[in-house]
Amino acid sequence: MSIAEGHAKTVRDRATETLPERIDLPQPALRVAPTPLVKLCYTLVHAAEAVGIRDLADGEYLPMDTTLEQGIERQLNYLLDEVGCNRPGFRLLEIGCGYGHLLRLARQRGARAVGVNLSPEQVRYCNDHGSQVYCCDYRDLRDASQWHGQFDGVIANGSLEHWVQPEDVQAGRMNQIYRDSFEIAARALDPKLTEARYVTTAIHVEREVKPEYLLTAWYRHPRGSDRRHFSLLHNWMGGYYPIDGQLASCAGHFFSLEREMDGTLGYKIANDYRMARMMRGLYKNPKLVWRLARSLLRHPRVAATMMECYYVEQSWDWQFRGEDPPMRLLRHTWRRKAAPHSLSA
Ligand SMILES: C[S@@+](CC[C@H](N)C(=O)[O-])C[C@H]1O[C@@H](n2cnc3c(N)ncnc32)[C@H](O)[C@@H]1O
Repeated sequence: MSIAEGHAKTVRDRATETLPERIDLPQPALRVAPTPLVKLCYTLVHAAEAVGIRDLADGEYLPMDTTLEQGIERQLNYLLDEVGCNRPGFRLLEIGCGYGHLLRLARQRGARAVGVNLSPEQVRYCNDHGSQVYCCDYRDLRDASQWHGQFDGVIANGSLEHWVQPEDVQAGRMNQIYRDSFEIAARALDPKLTEARYVTTAIHVEREVKPEYLLTAWYRHPRGSDRRHFSLLHNWMGGYYPIDGQLASCAGHFFSLEREMDGTLGYKIANDYRMARMMRGLYKNPKLVWRLARSLLRHPRVAATMMECYYVEQSWDWQFRGEDPPMRLLRHTWRRKAAPHSLSA
């Protein structure tokens, strides 16, 4: 063995020695079909991975920061601190784990971190980069009994905006979906722990929005209107946002709210970095252009909506712009309160 090979082996052995073990968990049975628009959204968003955009939520920035990732890591470390992921062996579940940045940081803290995600592209990326991630809808965890009680903490960073659709709002199901999601998080937590937390981040809507606005084609709304932006966003991303206080009222039986933090400015700054990279990529990155073109060929209607929404009308950025932005990003730390035996079957 050469000196270089010997060194590489030592580094590998050390890494294996120090890597936290995987948690032995089966693939959850796929009982719930993911919402097609949400799944397609992340197939289309995968174009941005070509310009290194693998962080899709808010950040927390300081004046000296110069990159997207600096603020993102500060925000992810905040979430890990809040959930209590500060000791080796901590068992963490992330619901909607994107490209796995949070899971990797958790593992660097010695945690045993597991993700679930409905995007096959992102799951492949995560598992190819050493994370333990399962492709399923979070609702599949409800009856995945081998997952119940297996975790010390749960995080959902920017995924719950996709869990309710305008049709659910029309049918009066919105609060029940949030209540079920809190129950799913509560089931994942180890019942023996005296303290356990669930940490969420979610965009909240601050203006009047009716499901009908989202279900009407965007080009039927006046240009620049809130309704048009809402429709553009939904018809690309698939989702509906909660209003302030709604999650707390749905968490009731399972969790109490310990802390709320406003991350709106950090989301705006992260979006500015992403927009600059996506604009540059249009001129300089053939891989991005190829992926966008392929999306247009394969999924013309939704991909065209995405481009209109993101590049032309900039509805994604509109959400956090101005003195009184239409949306707020709220981070919530929830403390488990339900006794596990009181969870419904
Ligand atoms: C805005 S991205 C945030 C990703 C990641 N947490 C981050 O900060 O970059 C939302 C993530 O939630 C996932 N997701 C949305 N709805 C989901 C569902 N019903 N079940 C599982 N994953 C879901 C998406 O695939 C995506 O990875």
